[in-house]
Amino acid sequence: MSNQALYVGLMSGTSLDGIDAVLVAFAPHPPHSIQCLASHYQPYRQSLKDSLLALHHPAHDELHQAQLISNALAQEYASATVALLQTAHCASSQVRAIGCHGQTIRHRPELGYTVQLGNAALLAELSGISVVSDFRSRDLAAGGQGAPLVPVFHDRVMRHPTIHRVIVNIGGISNLTNLPPGQPTTGFDCGPGNLLMDAWIARHHGKSYDQDGAWATTGHVIPALLRALLQEPFLHTAPPKSSGRDLFNLAWLHSKLHGGESPADVQASLLAYTSRTISDAIQHYCEGVQEIYLCGGGSHNLALVQSLQASLGQCSIQSTDVLGMNADYVEAIAFAWLAQQTMGGHSANLPAATGARHPCILGAIYQA
Ligand SMILES: Nc1ncnc2c1ncn2[C@@H]1O[C@H](COP(=O)(O)OP(=O)(O)OP(=O)(O)O)[C@@H](O)[C@H]1O
Ligand SMILES: [Mg+2]
Repeated sequence: MSNQALYVGLMSGTSLDGIDAVLVAFAPHPPHSIQCLASHYQPYRQSLKDSLLALHHPAHDELHQAQLISNALAQEYASATVALLQTAHCASSQVRAIGCHGQTIRHRPELGYTVQLGNAALLAELSGISVVSDFRSRDLAAGGQGAPLVPVFHDRVMRHPTIHRVIVNIGGISNLTNLPPGQPTTGFDCGPGNLLMDAWIARHHGKSYDQDGAWATTGHVIPALLRALLQEPFLHTAPPKSSGRDLFNLAWLHSKLHGGESPADVQASLLAYTSRTISDAIQHYCEGVQEIYLCGGGSHNLALVQSLQASLGQCSIQSTDVLGMNADYVEAIAFAWLAQQTMGGHSANLPAATGARHPCILGAIYQA
């Protein structure tokens, strides 16, 4: 382990489920191997999740609330790091830096900003480890969307020289990375991942997600609703594009409902919608794809995967697990890698994915 650089990656995505933490070793010499040594998942307390959800909407005293939550998140990130390093029997002094994505509460690239909470100075203080954070702002400053940032990492670890692969991350929002052999890598946000299904089951059954899509399979897709959802202009906008809860949320869904629908039928329609937004994006922008690999929590949603397989029957659909990339931790490993790029002074955005005018060194460094 001694001549390898160790980094921690902390990912907390739009699903607002919790923190994915990984310890990653990067070999300094060719072939520059990347090894995930340990992982740890720390779910959010319901009260923290509720506060984060509330902060997605304009509210009284939101600046004050955002700072308090930013501090609370730093405490959560620090405790996730401690638990991770304990699992790995690794001292904090051995870790070069933490790559901490933070928690997005606003993503408005069209207005030139995106906000990820998580007090990185406090995390550096609590953990005793240097922290790289605010990965998205520099890309936005260069005219990009600030998202998605992971395609370049997908390219680095999952590209095949002769097989056309597509990687689909199904988090709160879904994003894909297109890896055509001999051609440049591209990527973009497809639309909603889990977040509409999560919000609907939370509202009707108080559950945080629809396990395996089981509730959705008890309902019937409402064709008129599916058609209305598919008219969303974001889906018909050409990449580069990115999205978030700013667009896809319960208020948006309610604006498409007439009110008399059975909740299970709505859930079935949301699953079909999520599946369609992904399969349409692949069919439209990834012509010739041979293999599709899924990661993110939505890759565990059996009904969703079956629906994708039904639409994309010509391709094999598997989890990134089979490529040696644990589907639950790909994004967290990516943020460890992004931190390593920043610490080394290397650019890490992919202008073909974000739309930035040029490559940039991403992130802000808070020294231990
Ligand atoms: N067995 C399962 N069945 C259905 N959905 C699942 C299952 N397991 C996980 N999920 C979904 O995955 C979500 C968590 O996924 P994940 O952590 O990848 O998303 P995220 O935090 O939004 O990440 P990111 O935005 O970085 O992609 C849960 O909220 C849930 O919706
Ligand atoms: Mg998550």
